Amino acid sequence: MHTGLSRVTEEIHKYGAFAFIELTHQGLYGTNFPVFAPSDVPLRGDLLKPHVLNSEEIEAIGMKFANAALIAKKSGFDGVEIEAAHGLLVEQFLSPLTNTRTDDFGGSLDNRTRFAKLLIDRIKELCGRDFTVSARLGVMESITGGITPEGEGALIAKKFEEYGYTYVHADVGLGDKEKRLEPMSYAQGWRSGLAKALKDKGLKIPVAAVGVIREPDFAEQLLVNGVSDIVALGRTLIADPDWPIKAMYGKVESIRKCIGCSECIMSRHVLGTAIRCSVNPNVGKSESYANLIPSLNKKKVIVVGAGPAGLEASRVLTLRGHNVVLLEKEDKTKDILDLTSKRKCHFLVSY
Ligand SMILES: Cc1cc2nc3c(=O)[nH]c(=O)nc-3n(C[C@H](O)[C@H](O)[C@H](O)COP(=O)(O)O)c2cc1C
Ligand code: SF4
Repeated sequence: MHTGLSRVTEEIHKYGAFAFIELTHQGLYGTNFPVFAPSDVPLRGDLLKPHVLNSEEIEAIGMKFANAALIAKKSGFDGVEIEAAHGLLVEQFLSPLTNTRTDDFGGSLDNRTRFAKLLIDRIKELCGRDFTVSARLGVMESITGGITPEGEGALIAKKFEEYGYTYVHADVGLGDKEKRLEPMSYAQGWRSGLAKALKDKGLKIPVAAVGVIREPDFAEQLLVNGVSDIVALGRTLIADPDWPIKAMYGKVESIRKCIGCSECIMSRHVLGTAIRCSVNPNVGKSESYANLIPSLNKKKVIVVGAGPAGLEASRVLTLRGHNVVLLEKEDKTKDILDLTSKRKCHFLVSY
């Protein structure tokens, strides 16, 4: 068991949700050198020569995934998801672009999916047959000669089904990194066609659609129209963690929508700081916001400036029971001075 992870699962289970954790290995994109890879392909330039994994090392990595899954299970997770997308190690085995091996782990589709089979086999041996294992599957590579959803993507997904994966996410793979965390210019649900392609090719296990799904009605139509069996939300939930409950109770107009500004990605993936969101200042700080108890000493507060900071200050002050007057630039300076000089307010906050 891992104490920190247990706190995470306890918190998730409190709300009646299931908790999954993703297990990953970056392979060629690793940051410790030499990087490990299925084959010596110059994906990151000729200077970075990867160490080509031998069969004992592949088995050892399989055991590390299994041990990680066991820690997850003991920490209360209901299942694990294998990262087999985004150009990382598992996909590097799947893709003909990054796997040029001539042994049992390269060549035919059976051989290129053997590593994914080894992972689920070792996890089930250690965690039990009923422990759920899913996969994020890169079925669209944006490099010529790569995996396509209608071609090898669908065949690989069927192999995953045969190996016992409970469901798959139809996601993007090697190539254009922007497509993985797309900015606001992308249309809502543009990736959902990947899920549909797998279903059309006869995949029986559930398929999740992911990427820029923002509106409950849109999400519902994906399910109703048989585009996907599951809808996966990322930034949608960072911007508003109450999205599912608001959708359930029809409070759609009160959903705080992700604006696709990439601030969360910048903080986590580029700066490596705690996560930040432009529309949800609460993200990652839910514990301190949980302590927003009503103030015993209620005050009248004038907030000057109704920009994002002024609005948020007003919202939090109101939640704590203070009496807030929010002024925008049209409101006259004289009125502000009047209110303050006559001691009608206790604080003046200016933004
Ligand atoms: C800050 C941040 C971190 C992410 N980290 C991962 C990750 O570690 N593994 C992964 O498979 N996807 C990761 N994603 C991608 C999301 O799971 C999701 O696929 C993507 O954001 C698209 O869905 P959305 O438009 O609803 O955000 C991350 C996304 C964000 C915004
Ligand atoms: S910071 Fe917030 S609003 Fe911006 S992309 Fe991330 S989740 Fe969306």
